[in-house]
Amino acid sequence: MASSLKKLISSFLLIFSSTITVESSEPSCRSYKSIISFGDSGADTGNYLHLSDVNHPPQAAFPPYGETFFHTPTGRNSDGRLIIDFIAEFLGLPYVPPYFGSQNVSFKQGINFAVYGATALDCALLIEKGIGSDFTNVSLSVQLNIFKQTLPSLCASSSSHDCKEMLGDSLILMGDIGANDYDYMFFQGKSINEVEELVPLVIKAISSAIVDLINLGGKTFLVPGTFPYGCFPAYLTLFQTAKEEEYDPLTGCLSWLNELGKNHDEHLKTELKRLRKIYPHVNIIYADYYNSMYRFFQEPAKYGFKERPLGACCGVGGQYNFTFGEECGCQGVGYCKNPSEYVNWDGYHLTEATHQKMAHGLLNGPYASPAFDWSCLGSASVDTKSSFTS
Ligand SMILES: *[C@@H]1O[C@H](CO)[C@@H](O)[C@H](O)[C@H]1NC(C)=O
Ligand SMILES: *[C@@H]1O[C@H](CO)[C@@H](O)[C@H](O)[C@H]1NC(C)=O
Ligand SMILES: *[C@@H]1O[C@H](CO)[C@@H](O)[C@H](O)[C@H]1NC(C)=O
Repeated sequence: MASSLKKLISSFLLIFSSTITVESSEPSCRSYKSIISFGDSGADTGNYLHLSDVNHPPQAAFPPYGETFFHTPTGRNSDGRLIIDFIAEFLGLPYVPPYFGSQNVSFKQGINFAVYGATALDCALLIEKGIGSDFTNVSLSVQLNIFKQTLPSLCASSSSHDCKEMLGDSLILMGDIGANDYDYMFFQGKSINEVEELVPLVIKAISSAIVDLINLGGKTFLVPGTFPYGCFPAYLTLFQTAKEEEYDPLTGCLSWLNELGKNHDEHLKTELKRLRKIYPHVNIIYADYYNSMYRFFQEPAKYGFKERPLGACCGVGGQYNFTFGEECGCQGVGYCKNPSEYVNWDGYHLTEATHQKMAHGLLNGPYASPAFDWSCLGSASVDTKSSFTS
């Protein structure tokens, strides 16, 4: 009797403790074997360049794009590395190869579907809303569909031959995406109210892409919010006004445009919170691009930037060193001597220096929520970590 009770208790304890083990068997510290990326120009490592008509290459096909780091244009919209490149370095993985145009390249340790100009919403829907169609049709859902089609061959080349496991071992970058949806509306002269109406649709598109990937086995997502576009030369130029009250007095950024970004971010954070409740074993990390970048305008000197760093490095002049039609990559457009002192590269995109500082703020805190946990990693990655402080 006593012994069978003992047995009962011990088997109960066994069940109980195994339940606990299951609960805690999803370590928040992971060593990622691969990076899978979706998004727009912020993460495009060459897709758009390869998708473009050879007779009409994009601006990023020309110098001075790539001057600082790759020393040749790679299709990245910067003078050097992007946030995704710094994340890859940090994880000890190769730079994530673009899906389009990569020949004879292994996608075992990463694959990138991000395309310059890509939207969160499908083109058909945007066209329906009266927005032109002269932009890439490789929207988020198109990127996702191509990924799904590619998946069987990706898994076949992975050591486990198991797609779920391969996705589970990957860090999935979901964006940034959505800014172009708003951008195209603005450039078509739509009002801020019309643009605001798009926010819930954009968030829904991002959310359903995450859910799709969770169902395929995805376990870790890094989901960026928006950049403070009210501080970007292209928008400061487009919306330039004599009404001083539209500008933040400290930074000189356009407050109302930044409010749109904050609104998007609030919606996104609420949606991610909802997803975390439904999928408690999936790590969904919000990347606060907005605040991670806004601090550079609040305290530029502290981060090594020039005073009031609103102007682009690459441009031909104007209040923000940005001129429509005479943009970076066009013939005769030069760039500043010291790109690392500039936050903005070409009016729409950021310098490598900005990307590096933002990546550092994500990987080592405090701009990732929940924060990354690197406690299980060996000294090799600690070494890479220290490269950020130099
Ligand atoms: C592709 O890669 C393999 C192995 O690295 C190499 O043997 C082959 O020559 C390459 N093919 C081309 C077309 O570059
Ligand atoms: C996107 O556009 C290209 C040509 O511009 C076309 O070949 C392709 O079928 C389109 N894809 C989708 C998903 O609409
Ligand atoms: C504007 O861009 C030019 C390159 O054309 C650069 O030399 C200059 O430093 C930039 N001006 C400002 C004010 O940043």
